Amino acid sequence: MAILITGGTGYIGSHTVIELLNQGYEVVVVDNFSNSKPEVIKRIEEISGKKFSFYKVDLLDYIGLEKVFKENNISKVIHFAGLKAVGESVSIPLKYYYNNITGTLILCELMSKYGVKKLVFSSSATVYGMNNVSPLTEDLPLSTTNPYGSTKLMIERILNDLVVSDPEWGIVILRYFNPIGAHESGRIGEDPNGIPNNLMPYITQVAVGKRAALSIFGNDYETSDGTGVRDYIHVVDLAKGHLKALEKVKSEKGVMVYNLGTGIGYSVLDVVKAFEKATNMTILYNIVDKRSGDVDRCFADASKALKELDWKCEKNLEDMCRDSWKWQVSNPNGYKEN
Ligand code: NAD
Ligand code: UD1
Repeated sequence: MAILITGGTGYIGSHTVIELLNQGYEVVVVDNFSNSKPEVIKRIEEISGKKFSFYKVDLLDYIGLEKVFKENNISKVIHFAGLKAVGESVSIPLKYYYNNITGTLILCELMSKYGVKKLVFSSSATVYGMNNVSPLTEDLPLSTTNPYGSTKLMIERILNDLVVSDPEWGIVILRYFNPIGAHESGRIGEDPNGIPNNLMPYITQVAVGKRAALSIFGNDYETSDGTGVRDYIHVVDLAKGHLKALEKVKSEKGVMVYNLGTGIGYSVLDVVKAFEKATNMTILYNIVDKRSGDVDRCFADASKALKELDWKCEKNLEDMCRDSWKWQVSNPNGYKEN
């Protein structure tokens, strides 16, 4: 029996595939490479020393995806595939709704058709919106501020409706906080297109000399040093959370929702200092205006995942900075020819 991983060559998917292969799972990956590179497959096989099946398929291609279900004995699905850039989702909302929602509908339809009713879905802390106070618990009211976030919230609702219609489904919804870091080998990591939107890739690109200085978005937030506070989580800890979620859907039915975060909030300046300490480098920065849509503090209450999944983070901020840097410095142009 195999685990189907959609979006398995992406940032979080690739790290999760390695953890699954290391634990002896049979893995089938589908990805359309809209935001990843074929090179990832080689590197996953190199790190794990194992082979896996790969299909270059778009989730919107019903026939292509059905072939994957026909040719493999799939027991469970981890669904990472989706578009994820917040700013882009504001510019091209229809593409985001179509890709993320229709892709999920087609996947669930085929899962139903082939009797595969165990699903782990990548949601985001973005569904907590602007009005909740951290630490955030899973039962808070949800809202969103951009089309990307709305696709996550809509998919969560669709999955709830699916379970109401057919209680045989077992679905774990994972709300990720801020994944950073990379595999300790430095061979796989986050490979953003163009100018990074997120903090850690921007810092590593300043460190490697691709960007002049970090712009820190505001220093008058209600936080200890005035800069925004987030819950950064090492991508390998996050990946391991998916193995715990698979165990959960194996034994339980219904929809189960978990935050995957450390439960600790760090400010932008904390991250800059930790990066400087871990790498012995200096990061130039300027304070600029706040970015619209940013909240002052966003961090998880991570106790439900500890209690019900027996999962917690093992790596600290220094590990995250060291591993992000190792990936960046050994792959200054990501997966493109260096
Ligand atoms: P990513 O872009 O690196 O990986 C997503 C993968 O899905 C890519 O390889 C892309 O090519 C593929 N894909 C997209 N649409 C597809 C389609 N229609 N058919 C087939 N493949 C498709 O992103 P990631 O950071 O690994 O995120 C994985 C999931 O986690 C996403 O759903 C994302 O929204 C969610 N998430 C990410 C973060 C984060 O900070 N990285 C935070 C919260 C939630
Ligand atoms: C962003 C997205 C969120 C997504 C998450 C994970 C927005 C508004 N939110 O969240 O939906 O789930 O990424 O990928 O885009 N910062 C700087 N300078 C920079 C970049 C960031 O100061 O160049 C600050 C931000 O203001 C924030 C912190 O660093 O305080 C983290 O930012 P980022 O990495 O973009 O993550 P989020 O804003 O939490």
